Amino acid sequence: MSRVSIRGLVKRFGPAVAVAGIDLEIADGEFVVLLGPSGCGKTTTLRCIAGLEGLAEGEIRIGDQVVSRPGYALPPERREMGMVFQSYAIWPHLSVAENVAFGLKLKKLPAAEIRDRVARALDLVGLGRYGDRGASQLSGGQQQRVALARAVVLEPGVLLFDEPLSNLDAKLREKMRFELRQLQQRLGITSIYVTHDQQEAMVIADRVVLMNGGRIEQMGGPIELYQRPKSLFAAEFIGLANILPGTVASSSDGGTTVSAGALALHSADTGFRAGQRVTAICRPENLRVSIDRPEGPNAWQARLDLSYFLGNIADVYLSVGDVQLRGQLSPPETWAPGKSLWVQMPPDKVILLPDEAMPAQ
Ligand SMILES: Nc1ncnc2c1ncn2[C@@H]1O[C@H](COP(=O)(O)OP(=O)(O)O)[C@@H](O)[C@H]1O
Ligand SMILES: [Mg+2]
Repeated sequence: MSRVSIRGLVKRFGPAVAVAGIDLEIADGEFVVLLGPSGCGKTTTLRCIAGLEGLAEGEIRIGDQVVSRPGYALPPERREMGMVFQSYAIWPHLSVAENVAFGLKLKKLPAAEIRDRVARALDLVGLGRYGDRGASQLSGGQQQRVALARAVVLEPGVLLFDEPLSNLDAKLREKMRFELRQLQQRLGITSIYVTHDQQEAMVIADRVVLMNGGRIEQMGGPIELYQRPKSLFAAEFIGLANILPGTVASSSDGGTTVSAGALALHSADTGFRAGQRVTAICRPENLRVSIDRPEGPNAWQARLDLSYFLGNIADVYLSVGDVQLRGQLSPPETWAPGKSLWVQMPPDKVILLPDEAMPAQ
């Protein structure tokens, strides 16, 4: 069983708290991504799971076996985990096949078995014909695949990734995301993947664990996290958001009305009370912009301040009185700034967060 169970994990470096209490259950075969800004404790958490760091508090189990607790850590090489890092750590003087075979030779497996397993691992990452090449002759993307083959060939119970695609150029990074995802699904290996790139997280993850300041801010499937952020931090870190501070005017089972600057904003969200301070969130792509007045609620006359044509969409900034809103229009309109337009926010696309959910400044 390669279930990973993390309970009450705390890690300090001297007086500094890098991980401030994390509880996380990762199911067998699940692909979990630790996402968050630089310094939020992702790498430290991963290193604790790998056994490269000891814990101050808490416990880590693999299956039913405790592998880390304060004062005890099963050594990394006995955890049956494969690791892939940002720097590929490929040995340039060895061939591709020798790089991949390295761990198996350490285990003193029979030569024929090593040959078979290396061939299979290289096929898996699409490098079946590159075994005899010198590793230094490969491109960055190919080297990263060698690193992946080297981890997979050991048939680990868990794969750990720390920003493995960060050194690749944008196009290749995007392609490798899909490849990694497909490979993981084929192998079914429990995987824990660290990145600060929200799009990468969305593509790869079964479940995204959003971290902030050494803690878990929110976790869930990519769609849930995007559509139902539970805090301003989550709303701003994942995707773009119009953020409108306001006060609840009225709330009933049918929805809530908020006054936010010039706007009387209707949201389908319920469970608020009049006078409560809230923050309304609306994703730019959910803004509807039209020349004619639309039917329905939450429609205002607006002035187009700025418009950027981005090919597939137009990124637009509109003013409604003192409130500026950002929209992303698809298909892209090419209206000139200064144009008078209508803007509408469907109430079911207006997310309300009580102000308690805002992090202390
Ligand atoms: N070896 C270390 N010694 C001291 N502080 C560290 C060490 N490793 C990490 N930290 C600190 O712990 C915090 C979390 O770091 P890290 O886990 O690397 O974050 P992330 O991977 O999310 O960018 C940061 O404040 C970082 O400076
Ligand atoms: Mg890191």
